[in-house]
Amino acid sequence: MASSFRVWHFLLALFLLSSVACGQLTPTFYATSCPTLELVVRSTMTQALLAERRMGASLLRLFFHDCFVQGCDGSVLLDDVGSFIGEKTAAPNAGSVRGFEVIDQIKTNVEAKCPGVVSCADIVALAARDGTFLLGGPSWAVPLGRRDSTTASLTDANNDLPAPTLSLSGLVTAFGNKGLNARDLTALSGAHTIGFSQCQNFRDHIYNDTNVDAAFATLRRANCPVAPGSGDTNLAPLDVTTQLVFDNAYYGNLLSQRGLLHSDQELFNGGSQDALVQQYSNNPALFAADFVTAMIKMGNISPLTGSAGQIRANCRVVNS
Ligand code: HEM
Repeated sequence: MASSFRVWHFLLALFLLSSVACGQLTPTFYATSCPTLELVVRSTMTQALLAERRMGASLLRLFFHDCFVQGCDGSVLLDDVGSFIGEKTAAPNAGSVRGFEVIDQIKTNVEAKCPGVVSCADIVALAARDGTFLLGGPSWAVPLGRRDSTTASLTDANNDLPAPTLSLSGLVTAFGNKGLNARDLTALSGAHTIGFSQCQNFRDHIYNDTNVDAAFATLRRANCPVAPGSGDTNLAPLDVTTQLVFDNAYYGNLLSQRGLLHSDQELFNGGSQDALVQQYSNNPALFAADFVTAMIKMGNISPLTGSAGQIRANCRVVNS
């Protein structure tokens, strides 16, 4: 008995050591260095959502846009300064990705408790989880221990972030390039159960695609003029049913051809993801479980760990 206990102990120690040595992320990364981290993020996020409920959606998207470009390394947060060019002016980000002020506020509050310890990349990961949860979605233990990049890539942001004009096979390829499979794609797209899109990103779909419910097209055309250049930034909810609640209604919308983006409706258009969209629509628990699995997988894209990168003092600039 005592010897089997010793073996078990040894194996546990080996596992813990190897996960540190291999630079794997772990939810307990800041357990001793910043025990109040998650409370600070949760309370700052709660304040931010009280001021503007949409912010939960915006921060969920910010995490996606961070992870798909150079991995989850906070690169999306870097401002263009002097000769440094970041990702904020890339086509999918410019005038669209938002929530940087909330990340700044969380960072300020975290620095007050545990200076110089917590990365901006981990703050984005926690804010995405809290945004999801505070809008009614699932919660999960976020693996932590990412460090912040000293670089960003405008080119990668333009190339690696999927466009709303993509076909199903284009979407599968874009996610495949990041180590995510078609099931991850379909589960993660359920993030479009919250938040908004600008007219310029769905105009073509509601005027030119044939797989759109007629009444839905009429509804959305009312605030999205056909001529490019007019009403480009007018907003419509991505989920026509329950726009600011994180639920599985997004998939029901796809079943009735009421996906807002061309790329949304591609997931239910006679292709390989139809059956899964049906299942997520029927089974909210299955969607929640797959969404969490895929979020953790996305959060594992090429993190900087160990002594790579740095802990930025200000999320918008590389430490000098
Ligand atoms: C599958 C490929 C995807 C495409 C083509 C896509 C495209 C878009 C577009 C065009 C918008 C509207 C942006 C605007 O008009 O300013 C948007 C919004 C949003 N996206 Fe995606 N997206 C995809 C996947 C994801 C993923 C994986 C997530 C997160 C897990 C996500 C979360 C969001 C959220 C929450 C919003 C609303 C943001 C807000 O209201 O501020 N998207 N997406």
